[in-house]
Amino acid sequence: MSKPATALHTVTERSARDNVRLIDRRNSRGDSDDEHAALVDGLFASPAVISPKYFYDDIGCTLFEAICSLPEYYPTRTERAILTTHRDAIVQAVGTGGQFVDLGAGDCAKAALLLPALHARRYVAVDIAAAAIEPALSRLTPVFPQVELMGVVTDFSRRFDLGGAIDSGPVTFFYPGSSIGNFAPEEARNLLRRVRDLCGPESGLLIGVDTKKEKARLDAAYNDALGVTAAFNLNVLHHVNTLADCDFTPAGFAHVAFYEPIKGRVEMHLESRYLQRVRIGKRERVFVQGERIHTENSYKFSPGEFANLLRSAGFTELRVWQDDAGDFAVFYAS
Ligand code: AVI
Repeated sequence: MSKPATALHTVTERSARDNVRLIDRRNSRGDSDDEHAALVDGLFASPAVISPKYFYDDIGCTLFEAICSLPEYYPTRTERAILTTHRDAIVQAVGTGGQFVDLGAGDCAKAALLLPALHARRYVAVDIAAAAIEPALSRLTPVFPQVELMGVVTDFSRRFDLGGAIDSGPVTFFYPGSSIGNFAPEEARNLLRRVRDLCGPESGLLIGVDTKKEKARLDAAYNDALGVTAAFNLNVLHHVNTLADCDFTPAGFAHVAFYEPIKGRVEMHLESRYLQRVRIGKRERVFVQGERIHTENSYKFSPGEFANLLRSAGFTELRVWQDDAGDFAVFYAS
């Protein structure tokens, strides 16, 4: 998560290292006031809730990268295998020579798998965390000297504003990692609709989704033996302390994560280990022993369910690629 901006309704544009163009669309002061109020309201709600977007401070980004390499967390490597195995068919569906917009780009590693074959004329890495995309774009510069590389720092889940980074030519939006699963179904549909509205002719969305599977595997993927996911979950309290002037003690909470098959989602919570008082700004919130803060939902979809979601967002042409075990799916929707 980016630090609150101080500018009022401005777009800052600056060069990252190696002259990569970086457009900073972080929130105006008005937006950050709203976000701060929503965060505090969530902390006082019952049950308390913290948006998963607050996982991604510098430590959280590092922990998430570590999660992606864990043996229990199969989505990253499975999606990478699908993109590699089916690269030719994917590139044929998507088309070459256009603009490639990587939503939630992070370290840009997945896009880097496709870029050599896509011959994109422009690559736009979009992320809420400038700290992730700046060095990643700098690393890509010497590798893809013929591609115009750009970064946009924004929370596209709130406002889909790319600050003029793309033109009216063909564009492929790339949303890997099953991040769409972190939205409630109606929010996911709205986000997909916004992407659909930006798709002109020869444009579309390449999106990765985690599939429904047996509970034991999903439970394990969010309860790894090394405790990295637990640290990722607890770190959100550390971040919230900074953002909302609180005094949460992360060690006073336990990581809880489980697949809820009826809702079709993995839920993550932080459970108070004992009765405790937490200062939140000038107020205080009591957490009784066992009380939970809901920090994340991660929806899982059968391929048919996700196809229906894409259709309900206005996409009509769908292609899907999966691994042999059907653990993950990559769709191209136009
Ligand atoms: C980013 N997102 C798709 C991850 C997920 O699986 O929902 C975040 C995550 N949370 C715990 N582990 C990974």
